[in-house]
Amino acid sequence: MKFLVVGGGGREHALCWAIRRERPNATILCAPGNAGTAAAATNIPIAVTAIDDLVALAEREAVDLVIVGPEGPLAAGLADRLRARQIPTFGPSAAAAQLEASKAYAKDVMTSAGVPTAASRPFSELPGALAYIDRHAEPLVVKADGLAAGKGAIVCRSRAEARAAAEAMLGERVFGDAGALIVVESFLVGEELSVLAVTNGTDSVILPPAQDHKRLLEGDQGPNTGGMGAYSPVSLATPELLAKVARQVIEPTLAEMRRRGAPFSGVLYAGLMIDPGGNPSVVEFNCRFGDPETQVILPRIERGLVDLLLAAATGAPLPPVVIKPDAAVTTVLAAAGYPDKPASGDAVAIPSDGSEAIAFHAGTRLDADGTVRTAGGRVFAVTGLGSTFEAAQAASRRLAERIEFAGKQYRRDIGWREAARRGAAR
Ligand code: AMP
Ligand code: GLY
Repeated sequence: MKFLVVGGGGREHALCWAIRRERPNATILCAPGNAGTAAAATNIPIAVTAIDDLVALAEREAVDLVIVGPEGPLAAGLADRLRARQIPTFGPSAAAAQLEASKAYAKDVMTSAGVPTAASRPFSELPGALAYIDRHAEPLVVKADGLAAGKGAIVCRSRAEARAAAEAMLGERVFGDAGALIVVESFLVGEELSVLAVTNGTDSVILPPAQDHKRLLEGDQGPNTGGMGAYSPVSLATPELLAKVARQVIEPTLAEMRRRGAPFSGVLYAGLMIDPGGNPSVVEFNCRFGDPETQVILPRIERGLVDLLLAAATGAPLPPVVIKPDAAVTTVLAAAGYPDKPASGDAVAIPSDGSEAIAFHAGTRLDADGTVRTAGGRVFAVTGLGSTFEAAQAASRRLAERIEFAGKQYRRDIGWREAARRGAAR
């Protein structure tokens, strides 16, 4: 079989690695890939924005399955274009990708479907937004409607902060057109959880849930990032809670998308807030695998991932996946200056001896002389596996310490909520 993975981050390295594990003899292409995917796959230097070139590549190579990693090409219609050429594609249509690409659209779908989420209002004009903010309880959240690389949501402690955020987005257009429409919403209290459901548009298989760490610094301090680490399983995510998420979030959302003539296939990522009473609300939907969630979820799948992705892509009944009991913890190693102005071009030293952790490459590139260099904000996601959470955490941290590059930043407290829960239970 021949696979094409679109993207070049840690998520795509994990996808190539997981496909290789299940299909040792397959041809795996990755566009554009990174220094890590170069080992698990064949990198093809085509950018994720070059939709025509990606379609031409998949057609020329007669690819059996395309898996689209990032949201940008999905929102730009890559899956539609590939399916129009009869190429099986894992990922939603441009219409269905609006669940991530427009927060106002996602809110509208959730309201129609009765999915629990924070109360909100969309605004395209500043005076209306400011008047609404002035009547809103504190804290509150101001979000750019469109894709803003994970930076478009501003949690505001005060109405003054919210006014400033609305002015920056609608007035100064700090997020460009992505902020031409904003959503003002109520602040949700609780603990966040990422639940990823693989779906053929009707049925879904919920993958092991993970918890991301969005803030740059230990203790969840500092600016929001794309995600500094994750772990799975999460003991907060009991079977009862997951049943509630399926019933209250995933199933009604998929039904509403079908009703709107935009059935969603691929992976529906529900970013949830679980309140102290154990009730989930949706913070955001993503239309793709999470990063770094994928780097902890896929190593926990014993077998069945490729068959599941193929079934979802072709609308076939979904086979179950077999999950390992092991815990996984991934620690992101970020470049100096991340998230604002990440440095790049620094040489990387990776220990070559057998390690019990997996170094998924994210922002790396390979020089002609074989030197690996930093080439992006998040440089690695180091996944440790173990029979307990603590063992996985230790394995991840050990390798995180040993990979070297100038200005490396990482958190040593990935999974601190789980550690606290386990400590309290003892
Ligand atoms: P988003 O881009 O919508 O995922 O938001 C990024 C982050 O901001 C989330 O992961 C939360 O930590 C936080 N956030 C967003 N919306 C809310 C909300 N309504 N209540 C509390 N925190 C939020
Ligand atoms: N880890 C957050 C995301 O993938 O959007």
